[in-house]
Amino acid sequence: MAFPTETVYGLGGDVFNPAALAKIFEAKGRPRFDPLIVHIAELGMLEKVADLSLLDTVVRKPLSLLMENLWPGPLTLVLPKQKAIPDLATSGLPSVAVRLPAHDTARRLIALSTGAVAAPSANPFGYLSPTRAEHVAQMLGEKVDLILDGGPSRVGVESTVLNLCDGQPAILRPGGTPKEAIEALIGQVAIGSGLANNGAMPSPGLLKNHYAPRSPLTVHDGESIRSLSPLKESGAAFLFFDTASRSAWQDGRGDEVEAVTTVILSGTGDTVEAAARLFQTLHELDRLNPKRIHAQLAPEQGLGLAINDRLRRAQS
Ligand code: TXA
Ligand code: MG
Repeated sequence: MAFPTETVYGLGGDVFNPAALAKIFEAKGRPRFDPLIVHIAELGMLEKVADLSLLDTVVRKPLSLLMENLWPGPLTLVLPKQKAIPDLATSGLPSVAVRLPAHDTARRLIALSTGAVAAPSANPFGYLSPTRAEHVAQMLGEKVDLILDGGPSRVGVESTVLNLCDGQPAILRPGGTPKEAIEALIGQVAIGSGLANNGAMPSPGLLKNHYAPRSPLTVHDGESIRSLSPLKESGAAFLFFDTASRSAWQDGRGDEVEAVTTVILSGTGDTVEAAARLFQTLHELDRLNPKRIHAQLAPEQGLGLAINDRLRRAQS
């Protein structure tokens, strides 16, 4: 079943039911080595999925600060797993990724199940994530029996994945909770080499060529997108971060600019608004079948880290 969360739509199944988990991997065409996030609806469920007695003492205080201040919300914590969690959910890893979403429909659905729902984003493996029910219907269609429509996802990018299993907390995937918000609570965090679980296993959401549209995509900084000629790029789509950047590019080019499609992620250059519009905009552009999407990177702060991570991995 597909359901809305504040980040992106998820494809959910009871985590304690291996047959349900197998169906998720099947519907997404997802490799079995890519572990799932377990969603809970209340703090009391945490101990049923994670074995906190195995947690390094230095991260106990950070864990409670993060839970108190950033849950419910777009933050996933990688913790030692409970024995009851099937290997299929964690791809055989000794850790489990847990998240308490800030979305009423999601939480009510989880509460109606066993209280712990494994859910990856509801898209075919490697493709753009869904931020609306229509995206799920378009991408997975017959492969899902039911889609709960909760309207557009408010945050628009997936949760930040933070590893607490290797001593020093490390971000494995930048996402909807800004690094700054985490560091304000627990001090400096490492940015993932993408290696969790003592380096045994990269976080597969960090694979290159993930979150990709069908159209080829190239990322640019402000200067390099400004220098692109609309005539040479005729038939392409330009995704500007803000209005100022598009104006700078448009200046003095006259009607030439009509040769390409242009879109702005956030008029005022707000990374929160830009993140909320990112996947919806890429889905829309992709449907126009442009020759190429030229995307301008966001500033490397706030949700800009998550936006840039998704854009870089959508490159081809
Ligand atoms: O916002 C989200 O996180 C969405 C919504 C539906 O909650 N879910 C989502 O799931 O993005 P998915 O499966 O698309 O991404 C899960 C990420 C992957 O990068 C996976 O590798 C990582 O979490 N992950 C899961 N378990 C892990 C573990 N034990 N150790 C390291 N990384 C893990
Ligand atoms: Mg995903």
